[in-house]
Amino acid sequence: MKTPFNLILVGPPGAGKGTQAKRLQDRYGLCQISTGDMLRAEVNSGSLIGQQARAIMESGGLVSDEIVIAMLESRVQQPDCARGFILDGFPRTARQAAALDAMLAHLGLRLDAVIELKVDEAVLIDRISGRFTCAKCGAGYHDTYKPTRVAGVCDVCGGSEFKRRADDNRETMVARLAAYRADTAPILPHYAAQGRLYAVDGMADMDHVAGAIELLLG
Ligand code: AP5
Repeated sequence: MKTPFNLILVGPPGAGKGTQAKRLQDRYGLCQISTGDMLRAEVNSGSLIGQQARAIMESGGLVSDEIVIAMLESRVQQPDCARGFILDGFPRTARQAAALDAMLAHLGLRLDAVIELKVDEAVLIDRISGRFTCAKCGAGYHDTYKPTRVAGVCDVCGGSEFKRRADDNRETMVARLAAYRADTAPILPHYAAQGRLYAVDGMADMDHVAGAIELLLG
């Protein structure tokens, strides 16, 4: 793969964007930019942005375009993105997509691919309700699909405390899916028209999904 290489991973909540973005980061040295993770860090720090975002995230709605666009603009220019970046959870609205186009043009950067993870809605609740992460290092797991090798011990750092996201519940998931259908899915034709959109079967197991993405990226 030629670098810098910049790509977007898109798909509904629980599709596996974060899981695959981490793998791509490790494999190719790209930086994973998750606007969800950035917003959760703001919420945890108690910043003004975090205070504004908290209730919206817990209800499953979308945080304002102004906030996420400003966060992204400074993040893509950090030195760890020199080999390229993986956008995980951005853009999510037509306005964010237009801002990204303008930002990349301004910075002289190119968007190489948009990978859509296609997953049936029926499995998404199951995926997010089983999700948990290590409180110490952030490694991601799933009760059924990716349990820790030793019960209660993180495979990566040996930590023994785990956490679940406040928005990973059935009620919030309904709103998150509605936001995906109403605001995010409609931006995909924009990338299809540019010839940059590739669909991957996100129903396969994690290794197969990773293999399919690697094949696409060449
Ligand atoms: P965000 O954090 O981006 O959440 P999301 O898009 O809802 O996506 P998730 O992180 O829930 O799922 P994922 O696709 O990464 O799945 P994962 O790999 O973890 O956003 C949260 C909130 O922040 C939004 O609702 C919004 O309020 C706000 N926000 C964020 N960005 C914004 C923006 N740009 N604009 C406005 N607001 C914004 O996988 C899920 C589980 O399934 C894991 O346990 C995993 O182990 C398992 N799994 C993964 N792949 C597979 C597989 N192939 N087979 C079986 N299990 C699998």
